[in-house]
Amino acid sequence: MEKISEIQKICLRRAIVFPTAEIYGGISGFFDYGEIGKKIKDKIIAELKKFFKEENFIEIEGSIILPKEVFKASGHLDSFVDPIVKCKNCNSYFRADHLIEEKLKIKVEGKSIEEIDRIIKENKIKCPNCNSELENVKEFNLMFKLTVGAENEAYLRPETAQNIFIDFKRIYFGYGAKLPFAIMQVGYSFRNEISPRQFLIRLRAFTQFEIEMFFDPKNENCPIEKYLDVELPILTREAQRKNSEEIKWIKVRELLENKIIKSKWQAYFLAKEFIFFTQVLKIDKNKLRFRHVLEEETPFYSAGNFDLEYYFDDFGWKEIVGNAYRTDYDLKVHMQHSKEDLKVENIIAHVAEPSFGIDRIFLALLNEHFKIDRKYFAFPYKLAPYYVAVFPLVSNKEEIVKKAREVYEMLRKEFFDDVIYDEGFIGKLYAKADEIGIPLCITIDYQTLNDNSVTIRFRDTKEQIRVSISELINKIKEIIFSN
Ligand code: GLY
Repeated sequence: MEKISEIQKICLRRAIVFPTAEIYGGISGFFDYGEIGKKIKDKIIAELKKFFKEENFIEIEGSIILPKEVFKASGHLDSFVDPIVKCKNCNSYFRADHLIEEKLKIKVEGKSIEEIDRIIKENKIKCPNCNSELENVKEFNLMFKLTVGAENEAYLRPETAQNIFIDFKRIYFGYGAKLPFAIMQVGYSFRNEISPRQFLIRLRAFTQFEIEMFFDPKNENCPIEKYLDVELPILTREAQRKNSEEIKWIKVRELLENKIIKSKWQAYFLAKEFIFFTQVLKIDKNKLRFRHVLEEETPFYSAGNFDLEYYFDDFGWKEIVGNAYRTDYDLKVHMQHSKEDLKVENIIAHVAEPSFGIDRIFLALLNEHFKIDRKYFAFPYKLAPYYVAVFPLVSNKEEIVKKAREVYEMLRKEFFDDVIYDEGFIGKLYAKADEIGIPLCITIDYQTLNDNSVTIRFRDTKEQIRVSISELINKIKEIIFSN
Protein backbone atom coordinates (compact mmCIF):
# COMPACT_ATOMS: atom_id res chain seq x y z
CA MET A 1 0.00 0.00 0.00
CA GLU A 2 3.01 2.24 -0.24
CA LYS A 3 2.03 4.08 -3.42
CA ILE A 4 -1.62 4.70 -2.57
CA SER A 5 -0.79 5.90 0.94
CA GLU A 6 1.73 8.41 -0.49
CA ILE A 7 -0.93 9.55 -2.98
CA GLN A 8 -3.50 9.88 -0.20
CA LYS A 9 -1.09 11.92 1.92
CA ILE A 10 -0.66 14.43 -0.92
CA CYS A 11 -4.42 14.43 -1.55
CA LEU A 12 -5.01 15.44 2.06
CA ARG A 13 -2.09 17.83 2.42
CA ARG A 14 -3.00 19.73 -0.76
CA ALA A 15 -6.79 19.38 -0.31
CA ILE A 16 -7.09 17.54 -3.63
CA VAL A 17 -9.69 15.05 -2.43
CA PHE A 18 -10.61 14.39 1.19
CA PRO A 19 -13.36 12.82 3.32
CA THR A 20 -16.77 14.52 3.34
CA ALA A 21 -17.74 16.02 6.73
CA GLU A 22 -14.17 15.46 7.88
CA ILE A 23 -14.54 17.67 10.98
CA TYR A 24 -17.33 15.34 12.17
CA GLY A 25 -15.30 12.20 11.56
CA GLY A 26 -16.38 11.75 7.92
CA ILE A 27 -19.10 9.63 6.40
CA SER A 28 -17.91 6.41 4.86
CA GLY A 29 -18.04 6.22 1.05
CA PHE A 30 -18.22 9.99 0.46
CA PHE A 31 -15.37 12.29 -0.58
CA ASP A 32 -15.16 15.98 -1.45
CA TYR A 33 -12.92 17.36 -4.19
CA GLY A 34 -10.94 20.55 -3.61
CA GLU A 35 -10.02 22.86 -6.47
CA ILE A 36 -7.04 20.81 -7.66
CA GLY A 37 -9.00 17.56 -7.72
CA LYS A 38 -12.07 19.17 -9.25
CA LYS A 39 -9.98 20.73 -12.03
CA ILE A 40 -8.34 17.41 -12.89
CA LYS A 41 -11.74 15.68 -12.82
CA ASP A 42 -13.26 18.36 -15.07
CA LYS A 43 -10.36 18.02 -17.49
CA ILE A 44 -10.85 14.25 -17.69
CA ILE A 45 -14.54 14.85 -18.49
CA ALA A 46 -13.69 17.56 -21.05
CA GLU A 47 -11.22 15.23 -22.80
CA LEU A 48 -13.76 12.39 -22.78
CA LYS A 49 -16.35 14.65 -24.39
CA LYS A 50 -13.89 15.90 -27.00
CA PHE A 51 -12.91 12.36 -27.86
CA PHE A 52 -16.29 10.61 -27.85
CA LYS A 53 -18.96 13.21 -28.64
CA GLU A 54 -19.79 13.05 -32.33
CA GLU A 55 -22.36 15.24 -34.07
CA ASN A 56 -25.15 12.72 -33.46
CA PHE A 57 -24.49 12.63 -29.68
CA ILE A 58 -26.92 14.68 -27.59
CA GLU A 59 -26.04 15.63 -24.01
CA ILE A 60 -28.65 15.97 -21.26
CA GLU A 61 -28.70 16.78 -17.58
CA GLY A 62 -31.43 14.89 -15.77
CA SER A 63 -32.75 14.84 -12.23
CA ILE A 64 -30.81 12.77 -9.72
CA ILE A 65 -34.09 11.89 -7.93
CA LEU A 66 -36.49 9.69 -9.86
CA PRO A 67 -39.88 8.24 -8.93
CA LYS A 68 -40.27 4.65 -7.77
CA GLU A 69 -42.04 3.65 -11.01
CA VAL A 70 -38.82 4.17 -12.99
CA PHE A 71 -36.95 1.61 -10.92
CA LYS A 72 -39.85 -0.80 -10.73
CA ALA A 73 -39.78 -0.81 -14.54
CA SER A 74 -35.99 -0.87 -14.93
CA GLY A 75 -35.64 -3.86 -12.60
CA HIS A 76 -33.48 -2.05 -10.05
CA LEU A 77 -36.04 -2.38 -7.27
CA ASP A 78 -36.08 -6.15 -7.58
CA SER A 79 -32.61 -6.97 -8.87
CA PHE A 80 -30.13 -4.28 -7.88
CA VAL A 81 -29.14 -6.10 -4.71
CA ASP A 82 -26.04 -7.32 -2.90
CA PRO A 83 -25.87 -10.24 -0.45
CA ILE A 84 -25.11 -8.97 3.05
CA VAL A 85 -24.55 -10.62 6.38
CA LYS A 86 -24.58 -9.27 9.96
CA CYS A 87 -22.43 -10.31 12.91
CA LYS A 88 -24.48 -11.73 15.78
CA ASN A 89 -22.14 -10.19 18.33
CA CYS A 90 -20.78 -6.83 17.12
CA ASN A 91 -23.65 -6.07 14.69
CA SER A 92 -21.26 -5.13 11.84
CA TYR A 93 -22.51 -5.69 8.30
CA PHE A 94 -20.42 -7.24 5.53
CA ARG A 95 -20.79 -8.10 1.85
CA ALA A 96 -21.24 -11.87 2.04
CA ASP A 97 -19.72 -12.39 -1.43
CA HIS A 98 -16.62 -10.38 -0.45
CA LEU A 99 -16.14 -12.42 2.74
CA ILE A 100 -16.22 -15.63 0.70
CA GLU A 101 -13.88 -14.24 -1.96
CA GLU A 102 -11.39 -13.15 0.69
CA LYS A 103 -11.50 -16.36 2.76
CA LEU A 104 -11.95 -19.03 0.10
CA LYS A 105 -10.59 -17.24 -3.01
CA ILE A 106 -13.63 -18.21 -5.05
CA LYS A 107 -16.09 -16.01 -6.91
CA VAL A 108 -19.76 -16.33 -6.07
CA GLU A 109 -21.28 -13.73 -8.41
CA GLY A 110 -24.57 -14.93 -9.81
CA LYS A 111 -25.15 -17.44 -7.01
CA SER A 112 -28.43 -17.28 -5.09
CA ILE A 113 -28.72 -15.91 -1.56
CA GLU A 114 -29.39 -19.49 -0.31
CA GLU A 115 -26.21 -20.81 -1.95
CA ILE A 116 -24.09 -17.95 -0.56
CA ASP A 117 -25.57 -18.58 2.89
CA ARG A 118 -24.76 -22.29 2.59
CA ILE A 119 -21.12 -21.56 1.62
CA ILE A 120 -20.69 -19.22 4.62
CA LYS A 121 -22.14 -21.81 7.01
CA GLU A 122 -20.37 -24.88 5.56
CA ASN A 123 -17.01 -23.12 5.68
CA LYS A 124 -17.69 -21.69 9.13
CA ILE A 125 -16.82 -18.17 8.00
CA LYS A 126 -16.83 -15.84 11.01
CA CYS A 127 -16.99 -12.10 11.60
CA PRO A 128 -13.66 -10.57 10.48
CA ASN A 129 -13.92 -8.02 13.32
CA CYS A 130 -14.68 -10.18 16.36
CA ASN A 131 -14.62 -13.76 15.06
CA SER A 132 -18.20 -14.40 16.19
CA GLU A 133 -20.92 -16.22 14.29
CA LEU A 134 -22.77 -14.51 11.47
CA GLU A 135 -26.54 -14.25 10.93
CA ASN A 136 -28.24 -15.57 7.78
CA VAL A 137 -27.29 -13.91 4.48
CA LYS A 138 -29.89 -11.37 3.25
CA GLU A 139 -30.53 -9.38 0.09
CA PHE A 140 -29.80 -5.67 0.37
CA ASN A 141 -31.01 -3.16 -2.23
CA LEU A 142 -28.31 -0.68 -3.19
CA MET A 143 -30.58 2.27 -3.89
CA PHE A 144 -31.07 5.21 -1.52
CA LYS A 145 -34.78 5.61 -0.81
CA LEU A 146 -36.32 9.05 -0.28
CA THR A 147 -39.69 10.57 0.40
CA VAL A 148 -40.68 13.34 -1.97
CA GLY A 149 -43.30 15.68 -0.55
CA ALA A 150 -45.25 14.08 2.27
CA GLU A 151 -45.44 10.52 1.05
CA ASN A 152 -44.18 9.88 -2.48
CA GLU A 153 -41.57 7.15 -2.65
CA ALA A 154 -38.57 8.06 -4.79
CA TYR A 155 -34.92 7.06 -5.19
CA LEU A 156 -31.56 8.61 -5.91
CA ARG A 157 -30.55 7.27 -9.30
CA PRO A 158 -28.08 4.38 -9.13
CA GLU A 159 -26.98 5.06 -12.74
CA THR A 160 -27.35 8.12 -14.97
CA ALA A 161 -28.60 5.86 -17.76
CA GLN A 162 -32.20 5.75 -16.52
CA ASN A 163 -32.82 9.46 -17.21
CA ILE A 164 -31.72 8.78 -20.76
CA PHE A 165 -34.18 5.94 -21.35
CA ILE A 166 -37.13 7.81 -19.88
CA ASP A 167 -36.22 10.97 -21.83
CA PHE A 168 -35.60 9.05 -25.05
CA LYS A 169 -38.81 9.99 -26.86
CA ARG A 170 -38.67 13.69 -25.92
CA ILE A 171 -35.06 13.95 -27.09
CA TYR A 172 -35.65 11.95 -30.29
CA PHE A 173 -38.48 14.21 -31.42
CA GLY A 174 -37.13 17.40 -29.85
CA TYR A 175 -33.87 17.19 -31.77
CA GLY A 176 -35.15 15.48 -34.91
CA ALA A 177 -32.74 12.62 -34.25
CA LYS A 178 -32.39 9.58 -36.53
CA LEU A 179 -31.03 6.16 -35.61
CA PRO A 180 -28.23 5.64 -34.85
CA PHE A 181 -27.75 8.42 -32.33
CA ALA A 182 -26.56 8.71 -28.75
CA ILE A 183 -27.75 10.44 -25.63
CA MET A 184 -25.09 11.07 -23.02
CA GLN A 185 -24.96 12.41 -19.51
CA VAL A 186 -22.39 13.29 -16.86
CA GLY A 187 -23.45 13.44 -13.24
CA TYR A 188 -23.69 11.94 -9.81
CA SER A 189 -25.10 8.47 -9.15
CA PHE A 190 -25.65 6.91 -5.75
CA ARG A 191 -25.30 3.39 -4.38
CA ASN A 192 -25.69 2.45 -0.76
CA GLU A 193 -22.64 0.19 -0.65
CA ILE A 194 -22.58 -1.84 2.56
CA SER A 195 -18.82 -1.59 2.96
CA PRO A 196 -17.28 1.27 0.98
CA ARG A 197 -13.52 0.92 0.84
CA GLN A 198 -10.30 1.42 -1.06
CA PHE A 199 -10.40 5.23 -1.17
CA LEU A 200 -12.21 6.32 -4.37
CA ILE A 201 -12.79 2.79 -5.66
CA ARG A 202 -16.03 1.99 -3.85
CA LEU A 203 -18.05 5.13 -3.21
CA ARG A 204 -21.64 5.79 -2.25
CA ALA A 205 -21.83 8.97 -4.36
CA PHE A 206 -19.83 8.97 -7.56
CA THR A 207 -19.65 10.65 -10.95
CA GLN A 208 -20.56 8.72 -14.07
CA PHE A 209 -20.19 9.68 -17.70
CA GLU A 210 -22.57 7.47 -19.65
CA ILE A 211 -23.35 7.21 -23.33
CA GLU A 212 -26.40 5.30 -24.54
CA MET A 213 -26.07 4.62 -28.27
CA PHE A 214 -29.45 3.80 -29.83
CA PHE A 215 -29.38 1.79 -33.04
CA ASP A 216 -31.19 -0.66 -35.28
CA PRO A 217 -29.57 -4.08 -34.66
CA LYS A 218 -30.31 -5.16 -38.27
CA ASN A 219 -28.60 -2.10 -39.68
CA GLU A 220 -26.22 -0.74 -37.10
CA ASN A 221 -24.78 1.88 -39.44
CA CYS A 222 -21.66 2.10 -37.29
CA PRO A 223 -18.37 3.60 -38.55
CA ILE A 224 -16.44 0.56 -37.29
CA GLU A 225 -14.17 0.17 -40.39
CA LYS A 226 -11.46 2.47 -39.09
CA TYR A 227 -11.18 0.44 -35.88
CA LEU A 228 -11.24 -3.12 -37.26
CA ASP A 229 -7.47 -3.52 -37.03
CA VAL A 230 -7.14 -2.14 -33.50
CA GLU A 231 -5.84 -4.90 -31.21
CA LEU A 232 -7.44 -5.05 -27.79
CA PRO A 233 -6.18 -6.78 -24.62
CA ILE A 234 -8.92 -9.26 -23.73
CA LEU A 235 -9.28 -11.42 -20.65
CA THR A 236 -11.52 -14.07 -22.15
CA ARG A 237 -14.25 -15.99 -20.39
CA GLU A 238 -12.28 -19.20 -21.04
CA ALA A 239 -9.22 -17.79 -19.28
CA GLN A 240 -11.32 -16.74 -16.28
CA ARG A 241 -12.91 -20.17 -16.03
CA LYS A 242 -9.40 -21.64 -15.82
CA ASN A 243 -8.45 -19.03 -13.21
CA SER A 244 -5.91 -17.68 -15.67
CA GLU A 245 -4.93 -14.01 -15.96
CA GLU A 246 -3.55 -14.46 -19.48
CA ILE A 247 -4.44 -11.53 -21.72
CA LYS A 248 -4.98 -12.17 -25.42
CA TRP A 249 -4.42 -9.33 -27.89
CA ILE A 250 -7.29 -9.71 -30.34
CA LYS A 251 -8.22 -7.51 -33.31
CA VAL A 252 -11.66 -5.89 -33.28
CA ARG A 253 -12.36 -7.61 -36.63
CA GLU A 254 -11.81 -11.03 -35.04
CA LEU A 255 -13.88 -10.20 -31.95
CA LEU A 256 -16.81 -9.35 -34.21
CA GLU A 257 -16.34 -12.24 -36.66
CA ASN A 258 -16.23 -14.73 -33.79
CA LYS A 259 -19.25 -13.10 -32.17
CA ILE A 260 -17.33 -12.52 -28.94
CA ILE A 261 -18.65 -8.98 -29.28
CA LYS A 262 -22.22 -9.04 -30.54
CA SER A 263 -22.69 -5.41 -31.59
CA LYS A 264 -20.54 -3.23 -33.84
CA TRP A 265 -21.35 -0.25 -31.65
CA GLN A 266 -20.05 -2.06 -28.60
CA ALA A 267 -16.86 -2.88 -30.51
CA TYR A 268 -16.61 0.76 -31.63
CA PHE A 269 -16.65 1.98 -28.01
CA LEU A 270 -14.13 -0.62 -26.84
CA ALA A 271 -11.68 0.41 -29.56
CA LYS A 272 -12.11 4.11 -28.85
CA GLU A 273 -11.71 3.57 -25.11
CA PHE A 274 -8.43 1.77 -25.64
CA ILE A 275 -7.14 4.62 -27.82
CA PHE A 276 -8.39 7.23 -25.33
CA PHE A 277 -6.77 5.67 -22.30
CA THR A 278 -3.43 4.95 -23.95
CA GLN A 279 -3.10 8.12 -26.03
CA VAL A 280 -4.95 10.85 -24.12
CA LEU A 281 -4.52 9.73 -20.50
CA LYS A 282 -1.18 8.12 -21.46
CA ILE A 283 -1.80 4.94 -19.53
CA ASP A 284 0.54 2.01 -20.13
CA LYS A 285 -1.27 -0.43 -22.44
CA ASN A 286 -0.11 -3.33 -20.30
CA LYS A 287 -2.07 -1.98 -17.34
CA LEU A 288 -5.36 -2.13 -19.22
CA ARG A 289 -7.53 -5.10 -20.09
CA PHE A 290 -11.08 -5.73 -21.23
CA ARG A 291 -12.56 -8.45 -19.06
CA HIS A 292 -15.35 -10.31 -20.82
CA VAL A 293 -17.71 -10.51 -17.87
CA LEU A 294 -18.89 -14.08 -17.16
CA GLU A 295 -22.53 -14.88 -17.96
CA GLU A 296 -23.36 -15.31 -14.29
CA GLU A 297 -22.05 -11.84 -13.34
CA THR A 298 -23.52 -9.98 -16.32
CA PRO A 299 -26.02 -7.35 -15.12
CA PHE A 300 -29.69 -8.25 -15.46
CA TYR A 301 -30.22 -5.76 -18.32
CA SER A 302 -27.29 -6.80 -20.50
CA ALA A 303 -26.61 -9.33 -23.25
CA GLY A 304 -22.88 -9.03 -22.76
CA ASN A 305 -20.49 -6.87 -20.74
CA PHE A 306 -16.85 -5.96 -21.15
CA ASP A 307 -15.26 -4.21 -18.19
CA LEU A 308 -12.29 -2.06 -19.02
CA GLU A 309 -10.02 -2.68 -16.04
CA TYR A 310 -6.93 -0.80 -14.90
CA TYR A 311 -4.19 -2.32 -12.76
CA PHE A 312 -3.89 -0.26 -9.56
CA ASP A 313 -0.55 -0.95 -7.84
CA ASP A 314 -2.18 -1.42 -4.44
CA PHE A 315 -5.66 -2.72 -5.33
CA GLY A 316 -5.03 -4.89 -8.39
CA TRP A 317 -7.38 -4.92 -11.43
CA LYS A 318 -10.46 -2.71 -11.04
CA GLU A 319 -13.20 -1.78 -13.48
CA ILE A 320 -12.95 1.83 -14.70
CA VAL A 321 -15.44 1.60 -17.61
CA GLY A 322 -18.36 -0.81 -17.89
CA ASN A 323 -19.52 -1.68 -21.40
CA ALA A 324 -22.98 -3.21 -21.64
CA TYR A 325 -24.97 -4.33 -24.65
CA ARG A 326 -28.37 -3.44 -23.15
CA THR A 327 -30.27 -4.53 -26.28
CA ASP A 328 -33.89 -3.28 -26.26
CA TYR A 329 -34.26 -4.22 -22.58
CA ASP A 330 -34.67 -0.72 -21.14
CA LEU A 331 -36.92 0.85 -23.76
CA LYS A 332 -39.06 -2.29 -23.71
CA VAL A 333 -39.61 -2.34 -19.95
CA HIS A 334 -40.31 1.40 -19.87
CA MET A 335 -42.80 0.93 -22.71
CA GLN A 336 -44.57 -1.79 -20.75
CA HIS A 337 -44.73 0.16 -17.50
CA SER A 338 -45.35 3.70 -18.76
CA LYS A 339 -47.66 2.60 -21.62
CA GLU A 340 -45.87 5.14 -23.84
CA ASP A 341 -44.91 3.98 -27.31
CA LEU A 342 -41.11 4.25 -27.38
CA LYS A 343 -40.76 2.73 -30.86
CA VAL A 344 -39.10 4.95 -33.43
CA GLU A 345 -38.57 4.17 -37.13
CA ASN A 346 -40.80 1.15 -36.49
CA ILE A 347 -38.46 -0.58 -34.04
CA ILE A 348 -37.53 -0.62 -30.41
CA ALA A 349 -33.95 0.62 -30.63
CA HIS A 350 -31.08 -1.41 -29.23
CA VAL A 351 -28.54 0.19 -26.93
CA ALA A 352 -24.77 -0.10 -26.49
CA GLU A 353 -23.54 1.64 -23.37
CA PRO A 354 -20.10 2.69 -22.19
CA SER A 355 -20.28 3.81 -18.56
CA PHE A 356 -17.19 5.68 -17.37
CA GLY A 357 -16.55 5.78 -13.61
CA ILE A 358 -14.96 9.22 -13.37
CA ASP A 359 -13.66 8.93 -9.80
CA ARG A 360 -11.93 5.65 -10.56
CA ILE A 361 -10.47 7.10 -13.76
CA PHE A 362 -9.26 10.08 -11.71
CA LEU A 363 -7.56 7.69 -9.28
CA ALA A 364 -6.10 5.66 -12.16
CA LEU A 365 -4.61 8.87 -13.58
CA LEU A 366 -3.08 9.70 -10.18
CA ASN A 367 -1.76 6.16 -9.75
CA GLU A 368 -0.34 5.98 -13.26
CA HIS A 369 1.53 9.27 -13.19
CA PHE A 370 2.73 9.37 -9.60
CA LYS A 371 6.53 9.25 -9.40
CA ILE A 372 7.24 7.70 -6.04
CA ASP A 373 10.94 8.64 -5.94
CA ARG A 374 10.36 12.41 -6.29
CA LYS A 375 6.77 12.19 -4.95
CA TYR A 376 5.11 14.17 -7.69
CA PHE A 377 2.48 13.71 -10.40
CA ALA A 378 3.85 13.68 -13.96
CA PHE A 379 0.38 14.24 -15.47
CA PRO A 380 0.00 14.62 -19.22
CA TYR A 381 0.27 18.41 -19.58
CA LYS A 382 -3.32 18.94 -20.74
CA LEU A 383 -4.68 17.16 -17.66
CA ALA A 384 -2.57 18.95 -15.07
CA PRO A 385 -4.61 21.02 -12.58
CA TYR A 386 -2.79 24.19 -13.69
CA TYR A 387 -0.58 24.61 -16.76
CA VAL A 388 1.65 27.30 -15.32
CA ALA A 389 2.79 28.75 -11.99
CA VAL A 390 4.31 32.26 -11.89
CA PHE A 391 6.84 33.19 -9.20
CA PRO A 392 9.06 36.16 -8.38
CA LEU A 393 12.60 34.90 -7.72
CA VAL A 394 12.59 36.87 -4.46
CA SER A 395 9.61 38.28 -2.62
CA ASN A 396 11.37 41.19 -0.94
CA LYS A 397 12.29 43.11 -4.10
CA GLU A 398 9.36 45.30 -5.07
CA GLU A 399 10.21 45.67 -8.78
CA ILE A 400 10.49 41.90 -9.23
CA VAL A 401 7.24 41.19 -7.41
CA LYS A 402 5.45 43.90 -9.43
CA LYS A 403 6.74 42.47 -12.70
CA ALA A 404 5.76 38.95 -11.64
CA ARG A 405 2.20 40.14 -10.88
CA GLU A 406 2.08 41.78 -14.33
CA VAL A 407 3.16 38.58 -16.04
CA TYR A 408 0.61 36.63 -14.00
CA GLU A 409 -2.22 39.04 -14.94
CA MET A 410 -1.23 38.79 -18.60
CA LEU A 411 -1.25 34.98 -18.50
CA ARG A 412 -4.50 34.90 -16.53
CA LYS A 413 -6.22 36.79 -19.36
CA GLU A 414 -5.17 33.99 -21.69
CA PHE A 415 -5.25 30.89 -19.48
CA PHE A 416 -7.72 32.01 -16.76
CA ASP A 417 -7.48 29.69 -13.74
CA ASP A 418 -4.98 27.37 -15.38
CA VAL A 419 -2.32 29.75 -14.15
CA ILE A 420 -1.49 30.44 -10.49
CA TYR A 421 0.76 32.91 -8.69
CA ASP A 422 2.78 32.28 -5.56
CA GLU A 423 5.61 33.82 -3.56
CA GLY A 424 8.20 32.42 -1.18
CA PHE A 425 11.48 30.57 -1.19
CA ILE A 426 11.95 29.59 -4.83
CA GLY A 427 13.14 26.03 -4.16
CA LYS A 428 10.02 25.35 -2.08
CA LEU A 429 7.77 26.93 -4.72
CA TYR A 430 9.16 24.61 -7.40
CA ALA A 431 8.71 21.59 -5.13
CA LYS A 432 5.09 22.55 -4.34
CA ALA A 433 4.30 23.06 -8.03
CA ASP A 434 5.92 19.75 -8.99
CA GLU A 435 4.03 17.87 -6.28
CA ILE A 436 0.65 18.64 -7.84
CA GLY A 437 1.96 18.14 -11.36
CA ILE A 438 2.15 21.71 -12.74
CA PRO A 439 4.16 21.26 -15.96
CA LEU A 440 5.74 24.74 -16.21
CA CYS A 441 6.99 27.33 -13.73
CA ILE A 442 7.73 30.87 -14.90
CA THR A 443 10.19 32.85 -12.81
CA ILE A 444 10.73 36.59 -12.92
CA ASP A 445 14.29 37.45 -11.87
CA TYR A 446 16.83 40.29 -11.98
CA GLN A 447 17.51 39.75 -15.68
CA THR A 448 13.80 40.27 -16.41
CA LEU A 449 14.14 43.87 -15.27
CA ASN A 450 16.85 44.42 -17.91
CA ASP A 451 15.65 42.48 -20.95
CA ASN A 452 12.00 41.46 -20.34
CA SER A 453 12.81 37.77 -20.44
CA VAL A 454 11.72 35.10 -17.94
CA THR A 455 12.68 31.52 -17.24
CA ILE A 456 10.41 28.56 -17.97
CA ARG A 457 11.24 25.56 -15.81
CA PHE A 458 10.04 22.09 -16.82
CA ARG A 459 8.53 19.87 -14.13
CA ASP A 460 9.92 16.55 -15.36
CA THR A 461 13.50 17.49 -16.21
CA LYS A 462 13.90 20.59 -14.01
CA GLU A 463 15.55 22.10 -17.12
CA GLN A 464 15.12 25.84 -17.67
CA ILE A 465 14.90 27.96 -20.82
CA ARG A 466 14.74 31.74 -21.22
CA VAL A 467 11.91 33.30 -23.16
CA SER A 468 10.97 36.89 -23.87
CA ILE A 469 7.69 37.98 -22.23
CA SER A 470 6.32 38.98 -25.64
CA GLU A 471 6.65 35.36 -26.80
CA LEU A 472 5.55 33.75 -23.56
CA ILE A 473 1.88 32.98 -24.34
CA ASN A 474 2.68 31.33 -27.66
CA LYS A 475 5.54 29.36 -26.16
CA ILE A 476 3.32 28.04 -23.31
CA LYS A 477 0.58 27.05 -25.78
CA GLU A 478 3.13 25.30 -27.98
CA ILE A 479 4.51 23.31 -25.05
CA ILE A 480 1.21 22.42 -23.36
CA PHE A 481 -0.89 21.57 -26.37
CA SER A 482 1.75 19.62 -28.31
CA ASN A 483 2.42 17.34 -25.35
N1 GLY B 1 -25.11 2.10 -16.33
C1 GLY B 1 -24.35 1.04 -15.91
C2 GLY B 1 -23.92 1.09 -14.52
O1 GLY B 1 -24.15 2.11 -13.89
O2 GLY B 1 -23.33 0.18 -14.01
